[in-house]
Amino acid sequence: MEGITKELSVSEPFDKTEYRKRHNRKPILEALTKHFEEGIVPFHVPGHKYGAGNPVMKEYFGSRMMESDLNAMNDIDDLANPLGVIKEAQELAAEAFGADHAYLLINGTTSGIHAMILSALGQRERIIVPRDGHKSMYSALILSGASPIFIPPEIHPEFGFPLPPDPADIESIFSEVNQIQSIEIKGLFLINPSYYGVAPRLDTISAIARREDVALLVDEAHGSHFYFHPDLPPTAMEVGASVSALSMHKTGGSLTQASLLLRKGNRIHNDTIRNILDILRTSSSSYLLMSSLDTARSQLALDGEDLLEKTLDLARWARKEINGISGLIAPGPEELKPNHRIGSFDETRLTICVNGLGLNGFDVERALRKDYRIQIEMADFHTVVAIVTFADTRERLETLIRALKDLSARSPGRPQLNRFPDHPGVPPRVMNPRDAFYSRKSRISLEESDGSICGEMIMAYPPGIPVICPGEVMTREIIEHVQALKEAGASLQGMADTTAANVQIVEGS
Ligand SMILES: Cc1ncc(COP(=O)(O)O)c(C=O)c1O
Repeated sequence: MEGITKELSVSEPFDKTEYRKRHNRKPILEALTKHFEEGIVPFHVPGHKYGAGNPVMKEYFGSRMMESDLNAMNDIDDLANPLGVIKEAQELAAEAFGADHAYLLINGTTSGIHAMILSALGQRERIIVPRDGHKSMYSALILSGASPIFIPPEIHPEFGFPLPPDPADIESIFSEVNQIQSIEIKGLFLINPSYYGVAPRLDTISAIARREDVALLVDEAHGSHFYFHPDLPPTAMEVGASVSALSMHKTGGSLTQASLLLRKGNRIHNDTIRNILDILRTSSSSYLLMSSLDTARSQLALDGEDLLEKTLDLARWARKEINGISGLIAPGPEELKPNHRIGSFDETRLTICVNGLGLNGFDVERALRKDYRIQIEMADFHTVVAIVTFADTRERLETLIRALKDLSARSPGRPQLNRFPDHPGVPPRVMNPRDAFYSRKSRISLEESDGSICGEMIMAYPPGIPVICPGEVMTREIIEHVQALKEAGASLQGMADTTAANVQIVEGS
């Protein structure tokens, strides 16, 4: 597998003592502490004034949390124009993640993905994207007006989850497009790793992006921890990507919604990203979220490797135990390695194929919650995904393993499978997503929509691969696939008609 050994983001040699001293600092939290000590009389928002105006909330969450819910002012800086402690926190984050610049995000990686695509591309400029991109990638295409070229999706033949892009498909797209003088590709978008912990061949694909001189934009929503342990997959910054967005709140320890955007190199300018973030961001950035990014960065920079070593030991042990349970397979690097699309795998993630129990992932998710009080992160037809982080303990993993053993003992066993209908491939596109999205639309019955231009996205989630996007042509195959998804009980998203009996098409198409 690619990238099984890797450099950590801070290159040697460096002064470890000085590094630890710097990263022991949490500038935003320190400024908040100083602020309380001054005993400021508040004639500013938020109007709850340190919780006095919302006693129920104060009682529940504690006074320290309410006092920390402040808005921008000189001593605690302003995310819209960081000159003090937020600037320092961003500089420390950039160093910890090996980036030239880091930007605190208080509206999740979603806003980071919007910012990176809006910074890299304008109206009708071309970007190569995986079909199984998160919905934020699709909304960024609508916001920017960029024109996507989709990498054909593929599902793992044994485990049933979407696979990362094949570098050969990316090469073919470049060689086809490079023959057309009037078309230039500006960006390449990747996911590192997927929800299932599967990472692309990042080294190979980043070399293609470099050779073709395009910006590499990476969705690392599930990869914040990769930056702090050599056994975890390679990172976007390490392979020279231009931008990456990380959901620190998923695996990095920050509060929900708190993410980071990282930038490196000269392809996308700091000023461009700052201007775009300024458009996208609230003017009232939460200090709870920002200080949680600061403390999470400090913890990862100081102790990340040790914490993740323990996490990996725990997850590796749990995977072995799960693989000993009848009806379950939790693939690890050995099982995934032979697939040429997979570059590496996040071993902290427990991606468990449950079909051998004679159940689907949704059944297992429900049973775990109802009968064992265990909530897993995600389920689909074939799989459940349990997230293991440095917050976990052996006892907690034992609880999961005991429940899975019990479930296996009382499950029907093979067979039962209502297989997820095979994806029909990407339909022809005649308009870019933004033009179709903003066109006048009419609603017609799905059955009669053959040949019309679709005005909305139809997606079964999971696995989250859109069946059709705005601007693409409805075909008989697509109509039949949507009907098959409905019959299989898939959750269909994106359609104005939630029964999926009707579809919005571009008027007159
Ligand atoms: C692959 C992927 N990208 C992006 C996002 C968006 O991240 P956030 O929830 O931080 O906005 C998610 C969220 O689940 C995701 O799974």
